[in-house]
Amino acid sequence: MAEKQKAFQKCINLDCGSEFACTEEFFKCPKCSELLDIQYDWDQIKTPAKLSDFAKRWATKNQRLDFSGVWRFRELLDFCPDEFKVSIGEGQTLLQRNDSLAEFIGMKPGCLHLQYEGLNPSGSFKDNGMTAAFSHAKMVGAKSCACASTGNTSAAVALYAHLCQMKCTVFIGSGRIAFGKLSQAMDYGAKTIQILGDFDDCMKQVQAVCTELKLYLLNSLNPFRLEGQKTIMYRILEGLNWEVPDWIVVPGGNLGNSSAFGKAFAELKQLGLIDRIPRLAIINATGADTLTELVNKRNLKWNGGRVDNKIINDFYAELTAKKFSPHTCASAIEISRPVNLKKCLRALDVCNGVVRAVTDEAITDAKALVGKFGLGCEPASAASLAGLEVLLAEKIIKPTEKVACILTGHCLKDPNVTVNYHKEKTSKYSNPPVECPNDLKEIIKLMS
Ligand code: F0G
Repeated sequence: MAEKQKAFQKCINLDCGSEFACTEEFFKCPKCSELLDIQYDWDQIKTPAKLSDFAKRWATKNQRLDFSGVWRFRELLDFCPDEFKVSIGEGQTLLQRNDSLAEFIGMKPGCLHLQYEGLNPSGSFKDNGMTAAFSHAKMVGAKSCACASTGNTSAAVALYAHLCQMKCTVFIGSGRIAFGKLSQAMDYGAKTIQILGDFDDCMKQVQAVCTELKLYLLNSLNPFRLEGQKTIMYRILEGLNWEVPDWIVVPGGNLGNSSAFGKAFAELKQLGLIDRIPRLAIINATGADTLTELVNKRNLKWNGGRVDNKIINDFYAELTAKKFSPHTCASAIEISRPVNLKKCLRALDVCNGVVRAVTDEAITDAKALVGKFGLGCEPASAASLAGLEVLLAEKIIKPTEKVACILTGHCLKDPNVTVNYHKEKTSKYSNPPVECPNDLKEIIKLMS
């Protein structure tokens, strides 16, 4: 047998389990079409003795890789030599302890934290994954790439493709994408193809196009992307002075984040770098609630890696039969056939996770609260706070537990939803502008 490699790709299907070198490029197992994982032979990797050792890199942040909030943790995603690693300073994000919002929703001080991934260069968490996937793309010599997107992926791909001087095509569903995000893809120079369909249609087409034209695929099917997204969890631990929180709450769309988070914690535990794993809450929108339906109503489970495909196939057949297309104002998570479903089931298993769905009304109300009390976020991101409120009401999360909600995208990504929410007085927290004559006395009267 060939010498064991430090990092390799492995099919998650137990009955297949094929392994491939990281220098090979596919987005699904070439033998059985299941998802691929990146795995490591940790004996060959010099990981730090304790997580706090990573903090030493703050002192050398003038070095490109130490400045990156992803590559600072490079021993935990050691799949490519440094010479291929690309970075535009992603991951300089913030864990905001938010006591005023905590109090407002009935939690104790010090218990609620908001991880604002909107601070990334392209304005969403996607950059964490793109820096990793584009490094791999460079390693395999890719020249041209593509993705399907509800908006943020396309913005991030377009940005990194420009950095790597790669040709880039992004596929978006017609009328399904927030303007801020579409403007970014166009501005960063990507060829933008609007398909008459939804995200799931785009996802299907982009896989076919990438296979046919041998393009590098940058959706979260790409296992290297998920390696980068693990670092969001490392930064949360760092922000909590390496204390493990009780809960991570994250919106669920294509389920890449939740999959990556579960993998991150499983590995840290395996390496003895943490002593317990936080619980994970994944929050769907009710108009795009495949995960909630499958897990909570149809009892779909990871089952040690033997997932019951029939449950999934039957449900998808029902969606097809009724020509279902998902709908939510949180357009980023308007997805009904999440590609990382199985890895997400594994994450739920590892993290003793729960799944909930929240209405658009709950999402926009929660978004207004994140704006009023915090740094703001885009609608999909606020699903995390809306989900936390549900889980507090159900007493599954306790007011004294330490919770980190992931705010996945910047508040200016989708200003239409914000303006529509506030412009009428009808919403719970709306804050419409007040019209006033151009007259000092009238202005002062209005301000009292
Ligand atoms: N939040 C935001 C702001 C997103 O853009 C996405 C996904 C998610 C949450 C869901 O994350 O897929 O890891 O469960 N956006 C993708 C896109 C699908 O194309 O931009 P997930």
